[in-house]
Amino acid sequence: MSAIQIITRKRDGIELSEQEIKFLVEGYVSDEIPDYQIAAFLMATYFQGMSFDETYFLTKAMIDSGSAVDFSNLGAIPVDKHSTGGVGDKISLILAPLVASAGVPVPMMSGRGLGHSGGTLDKLEAIPGFRTRLSLSEFKTQIEKIGVAMIGQTQEIVPADQKIYALRDSSGTVASIPLVVASIMSKKIAEGVKALVLDVKTGKGAFFTSKEKSLALAKRLIAIGDKFDLETTALMTAMDQPLGYAVGNWLETKESIETLKGEGPEDVVELTLALGAEMLYQARIVEDVSTGLRKLKELLDSGAAYNKFLTLVQEQGGDISLVENPEKYPKSRFHHFILSQKNGFITSIDALKVGLLAMEIGAGRKKISDPIDYTAGIILRKKNGDQVNVGDPLLELHYSKAISKDSLQQQVDELVTIGEDYSEETPLILSYINKKGQQRWPHK
Ligand code: URA
Repeated sequence: MSAIQIITRKRDGIELSEQEIKFLVEGYVSDEIPDYQIAAFLMATYFQGMSFDETYFLTKAMIDSGSAVDFSNLGAIPVDKHSTGGVGDKISLILAPLVASAGVPVPMMSGRGLGHSGGTLDKLEAIPGFRTRLSLSEFKTQIEKIGVAMIGQTQEIVPADQKIYALRDSSGTVASIPLVVASIMSKKIAEGVKALVLDVKTGKGAFFTSKEKSLALAKRLIAIGDKFDLETTALMTAMDQPLGYAVGNWLETKESIETLKGEGPEDVVELTLALGAEMLYQARIVEDVSTGLRKLKELLDSGAAYNKFLTLVQEQGGDISLVENPEKYPKSRFHHFILSQKNGFITSIDALKVGLLAMEIGAGRKKISDPIDYTAGIILRKKNGDQVNVGDPLLELHYSKAISKDSLQQQVDELVTIGEDYSEETPLILSYINKKGQQRWPHK
């Protein structure tokens, strides 16, 4: 067996065996197969897709590249959520401590920014000192001690995803259903949860823009979960405009802190509560999602979720004085407002273009080795449906690079659309999906 034979078989649309997929994953993790060959394999997979069995073998090989965590000693059902990737999606930072404050263990393993979409690890690392690289034993001990831990893939747990994820980001192979499924599910199965809720995004800022493709992704994620005996359900949610107002690592962390203090944007609160209610339902601590929604609202309002976040940050080495006083965080060199040149209503804020602009001004990586400017990002001053007049601020840009204001103005002109009227109110939560199919949210 050789890597080149396997790559050409995939390129030609031939179904690969378990041994072939395992050979590639093991060879890559042990550095015997170089980046360029795996990049070619990823591109072949991007175009040819994978059967259900191949997706299962890839997920399994990625899990087997490291150790799997066992939380059967906890006496409670550990649950997690994962998003398929969006813009302004800071939900995990609020959700993990919120659900943990309800007594449900949340061992969460996340990723970094991918393409135009942000990553939970980068947002957490915007807090000085915050360690996302815990050892397996630190991860387990922290779950036993405080009921929540937020980490990245490590040398011990799914090292294959750590390498492949970064390579996909710089080889144009992110938006592939089998690659997304194997990446997400390998992490979630290895981290030892017993149930998982997925936030499957659809729309302009999602990796899959059509509802049909997003539904196909949700179904494949759920079927792979089922194959590994992991109870998996999903909410399909709109990602046409960014979630909340902030896009960019520290700006999003700050908005998460505000949300934990009860001052969050409506859409961020709605989605956090919905995903959290489903997690409580999966953990069997509420009889239905409506009870879960009420319980979580109380925990948010009482400050219990915020206190849990402080404990989490402290436990993972982060500087809690900046969580308590976010205004003391260092500022970017430039702070530039883009003003409206028209009267009317905001009819669209293109999430993909916002994500790309945030990346360009320093909030994301163009290649694996790029450093991130945690202070860089965008604050939307208006969202879909808001009325604007000439001269009103549309966006605030925070950055430290030298970038021409004209080029920024031109990019903003392309991402915000202002019309005479706004009538299209699309719901944020579009449907609920489990292994029986698609239903309305909230489900009974
Ligand atoms: N999140 C992941 O962990 N992997 C993907 O491929 C996309 C979103």
